[in-house]
Order: sequence, then structure tokens, then C-alpha cells
Amino acid sequence: MICIDKDATKIDKLLSGEVPIFEPGLDVLLAKNTAAGRLRFTTDLADGVQGADAVFIAVGTPTRRGDGHADLSYVFAAAEELAGLLAQYTVVVTKSTVPVGTNRRIAETIAAAAPQAAFDVASNPEFLREGAAIEDFMRPDRVIVGCESERAQAVLREIYRPLNIRETPVVFTDLESAEMIKYAANAFLATKITFINEIADLCEKTGANVQSVAKGIGLDGRIGGKFLHPGPGYGGSCFPKDTLALVQTAEQHASPMKIVQTVVDVNNARPGQMTHKIIETAGGSVAGKRVAILGVTFKPNTDDMRESPSLVIVPELRDAGAEIVLCDPQGRREGEPQLGPAEWVDEPYAAARGADVLVLLTEWNEFRGLNLQRLFQQMSGAVFVDLRNVYVPEDVREAGFTYASIGRP
Ligand code: UGA
Repeated sequence: MICIDKDATKIDKLLSGEVPIFEPGLDVLLAKNTAAGRLRFTTDLADGVQGADAVFIAVGTPTRRGDGHADLSYVFAAAEELAGLLAQYTVVVTKSTVPVGTNRRIAETIAAAAPQAAFDVASNPEFLREGAAIEDFMRPDRVIVGCESERAQAVLREIYRPLNIRETPVVFTDLESAEMIKYAANAFLATKITFINEIADLCEKTGANVQSVAKGIGLDGRIGGKFLHPGPGYGGSCFPKDTLALVQTAEQHASPMKIVQTVVDVNNARPGQMTHKIIETAGGSVAGKRVAILGVTFKPNTDDMRESPSLVIVPELRDAGAEIVLCDPQGRREGEPQLGPAEWVDEPYAAARGADVLVLLTEWNEFRGLNLQRLFQQMSGAVFVDLRNVYVPEDVREAGFTYASIGRP
């Protein structure tokens, strides 16, 4: 396996055994496979592509500024560049999340740039989660491959053969269906989260408990219990971008996706509502108060700050006059330049010291088993807002706190 990137800094880091992002377990895997000679890194595309049976395009497809479409410029640049280097039959596999129709355009791009090249394209969308990437890769629920030639199918089947032992379904489809499966899956999961967030809001108004409701509906096999944790809204590099892009594709084809559009709108409003909740729990104002926030990344076990609710909540609290203290096991490097003036501390009890309000924003393991009495003693105030429902309300109140969580009485 040869990994190629234009970013020499990234490749240099990997060559020296350093993982450029935080992903649990990746450093061990990198060391093991590099040492065994199974993994190489280079900035030289020609060298990397030479002799490959399959080339995976795994570049970014961020939201294009202004219109919500996926920016495909990196995908096509990669396709064009590698076209001239295809010396023998190669399967060009798209891992990047790309809108329906893109793989066919990739095939046209390569054919136009290198009319002699022997190749097929395949769409092989990624379903792994940040923070759980290795587990998801090793034990996927399914593998989706869109490709329309038997020869390409055989190559992909061979690549995923190690998963046979677990009887992982490898589903072969046409190109468009594979592309659509990726967007439909992410939009469905984003919808599920947004649905439970709205149910949680209604629970708060009616006296129901969203934890019981999520469990009660999740046990119905048609619904399933996963992705029913209410919170401050979904973030990250995928759901926000992919829901927007799906809405754009739908508009382009005059086939409106009202549900997904509503999910996008509801989720966009959510972090602001969380700010409001924090201020309300603090007695209607945070002006002049010290607010400590536990967790700034969009989810635990990653250093990724993209579309994190903290990017909205922290500046809003500061604008409301709060003095901000931040604590995150991995988020500081990415978060500090984006979150504005704040005091950063290394551990949760230091964050609580002298704080009037404590907010649990990202459910890192480091924040899940805190000694509530000790926290309470450290603080000046007694307000605890738990936006991930990590703690048992009675326990927190018993420790002396005024406590608010999501969708629980
Ligand atoms: C997501 C999908 O889960 C992956 O299957 C997919 O491969 C990936 O996007 C992608 O398209 O690349 P990821 O964004 O890494 O993965 O993380 P998730 O675990 O899905 O969490 C996304 C957001 O939803 C986070 O902000 C998380 O806090 C939130 N969430 C998740 C909830 O609020 N409640 C839940 O029950 C689950």
C-alpha cells in the first residue's frame, strides 16, 4: 500500500512515524505496517501509481463557498493527473464523498486525458466514523462498491477478501447507486439525530424523559437504538457538508428533499439554542461570570473542530459577557486559533476552579466519571449544564448543583 499526498509536511510526518491527526490506535497501526514493509508514503504520484492494481482517490470534497455544492476540484485534478500515469489496467476507485454522477464524469475525464489508458472506475464510499475509524474499517457493517465491469469487480473483491471471514456483506451496485447510498446514509443518520433532538425538546416541555423514549423506540428493530443520543446538534466534516450537498443535488434535479432541508435548518439553529439554555440555567445572564466548557471538538476521540457546536456556543457566551475557560483532551491545537480569547486548562477540575457555570459539551471519557463533590467544591457558582446527558440528574443535584441536561425532567 502506497499513500500519496501533495502536502510534503504531512508525508514527512508520516515517514517519521507521526500521525498528522488524532485518531485512537492509528499510531500503532502505522508503526506496525511501516515496519513490516506493507506501507509506504510519497509525494511522487508517478512512483505511487506505478504498478498499482487499484488507485483510490481520497481527497477532500468540502462545501463550495457560497452555494452548498460539494467542491469537486480536488477530485478532478487528481483524476486528470493520474490519467497520464496509467501504464497498465487499473481500477480508479473513488473513496471521496462525491455527488451522484461524479464517477461517470471521472471516467470521462480520464478517458479524455489519456485515450489509450486501460481502466475502469469504481465508487467505494467510506462509512467510518472519526474516533472509531479503525474499528469501523476492520469490522464494517457492509462494503459498498459501485462498478460496472467484472474485471473491476474482481479487483475490489480481492481487496476486501480479508473481510470474508466475518461474512461482511460486500454489495455491488451501479455507480450512481453507490454514490447515492453514501449521501442517503449520512442524511438518514443526521435526520435520526435531529429527530431525537426535537423529541428531547418536547420531552422537556411535557415532563417525559428522552432517555426512556430513545430506549423505548430504539428497541423496535425497525427503528434501532443507535444515533438516538440527543445533544447540541451534529457537527463534523461529514453530516453538515453531505446534507447540504444532497439538498443541492435534489434541487438540481428538481426533486426536492424537504426533510433533509429541514434537518439542515433545525440543526443549524441548535447550537444557538444551547447557548440560550446555558444562559437561562445560569439565571438569565452570564455577564461577568466565569463559564468553563468541557470539550470543544465536535465529538470525542478526535481533534477535529470542523462544524463543532463549540464554534457557535463559545463566541456567543463571550458576547454575552462571559469569561471563558476551555478544556479538551485533544482540541486545543485546532481549537485555540478558532475559538478566540479564552483560558485553556489541561484537566476538568482545573476548569471548574472558580467557575460560576460548568458546561459539558463533548462527552470525552475524561469527563464521564468526574467526582461531582470535588467539582462542586472547586467552583464559585453551582450551575452545571450537561449537553450530552452524561450524568444522572439526581446525583448532580445531590452534589449541590443547579443542573440542566437535554430532554430530561
Ligand atoms: C459520520 C458517519 O457516522 C460515518 O458513517 C461516515 O463515514 C462519516 O460521517 C463520513 O461521512 O465520513 P463522523 O462524522 O465521524 O461519522 O461521526 P459520528 O459519530 O457520525 O458523529 C457525527 C455528529 O453527530 C457528532 O457531532 C456527534 O456528536 C453527533 N451525534 C451522533 C449525536 O448528536 N447523537 C448521536 O446519537 C450520534
